[in-house]
Amino acid sequence: MLEISERTRSLGTENAFVVLKEVNELISKGKDIVNFCIGQPDFDTPEYIKQAAIKAIKDGKTGYTASPGIPELREAVAKYLSETRKISVNPDSVVVSNGAKPFIGYTILCVTDYGKGDEVLYPNPGFPIYESQIVANGAKPVPLPLLESKGYSFDLEYLKSKISKKTRLLILNSPHNPTGAVLDRKTLKAISDIVQEYENLWVFSDEVYSRMVHDFGFESIASLPGMQERTIIVDGVSKTYAMTGWRIGYASNEKLSPYLARWVTNTDSCAAHPNQYAALAALTGPQDESNKMMLSFKRRRDIIVDELNKIEGIKCLRPGGAFYVWPKVTEACELVKAKDSEEFRKRLLHDSGVAVLSDIHFGHRNKGEGEHIRFSYATSEINIREGIRRIKQFIEVNKKN
Ligand SMILES: Cc1ncc(COP(=O)(O)O)c(C=O)c1O
Repeated sequence: MLEISERTRSLGTENAFVVLKEVNELISKGKDIVNFCIGQPDFDTPEYIKQAAIKAIKDGKTGYTASPGIPELREAVAKYLSETRKISVNPDSVVVSNGAKPFIGYTILCVTDYGKGDEVLYPNPGFPIYESQIVANGAKPVPLPLLESKGYSFDLEYLKSKISKKTRLLILNSPHNPTGAVLDRKTLKAISDIVQEYENLWVFSDEVYSRMVHDFGFESIASLPGMQERTIIVDGVSKTYAMTGWRIGYASNEKLSPYLARWVTNTDSCAAHPNQYAALAALTGPQDESNKMMLSFKRRRDIIVDELNKIEGIKCLRPGGAFYVWPKVTEACELVKAKDSEEFRKRLLHDSGVAVLSDIHFGHRNKGEGEHIRFSYATSEINIREGIRRIKQFIEVNKKN
């Protein structure tokens, strides 16, 4: 019999895409759905970026590029990271790829060995690809619970207790998907003090939401003394410039960059050539449109948090960044007699046409944390208000029943 490997059969996934398929099928059957599922800006890519890609195609920039990326883009990224992270980044330390996502797997491959018991710490709840890639690449996943009582920041004592000589990599993600939490400088400093006690411990800093910090400035752990050397800074143009489908992300680390580039050679060869010019235009062109998008996310955050908190059975913290909220719906589940957040999500979708994700899509539930759902508020204010109206009605009707 032709068989599929155990590694592939057990591969995790990003449930946003699974639920999105379900949502699109319902929409194609004529169901009216307010969609809070997918983490991508609802704006179009700015025109000057599109024009840069069109020009690149017309100029014949259509062949392979060097695996780490075109020199102009690597230089622009180095300049951008140096300015925004207040460190000195060398263009040679920058590698470009098809989105930020591939760097998760590449980094794990670069710093752990298969089946040797190398451990990788990652946030839970968290972006599901972290755990999936850790397991698929033969390392040991060690989840770090992010708790509501700590504003979904790290429990530093717990972190300390989980780091050992076997730990090769700590994954950080701030602003965070799915909670929207932002790590402040004090917490990053405490994490950096813990990490620096270990010689062979890397930090993967997933900063794809770095421009979506709503209340104060963005801080990268790489900016702290002694941390740049061991930190792989990862960012991209997907979320900042409404360019999710263009697939351009980048990573920077002096020591790792040649190895990351070799992984690019072994997989995709290079990122799409014209799209690298689009990313170059995005980083070096006028920032007004991107800044406007970021401001609209802040406004929407305030609307969705205020409105969710008016609904019986729902409690929502006001997160500092990204375009996600992670309200607690334990009481709402009890009110409508849903056994958990996943049943609540399904009924909300089918009965009321509101699409969200539930906590089980972001890792194992942490004991005592209750039930949560995730909203991506990268959708219009009209949609946000309509979605909220439907949820309120869903709870009221089902409560009576
Ligand atoms: C935390 C996190 N990291 C990485 C990515 C992937 O970004 P990209 O589109 O650059 O691959 C996402 C996308 O949702 C994300 O939420």
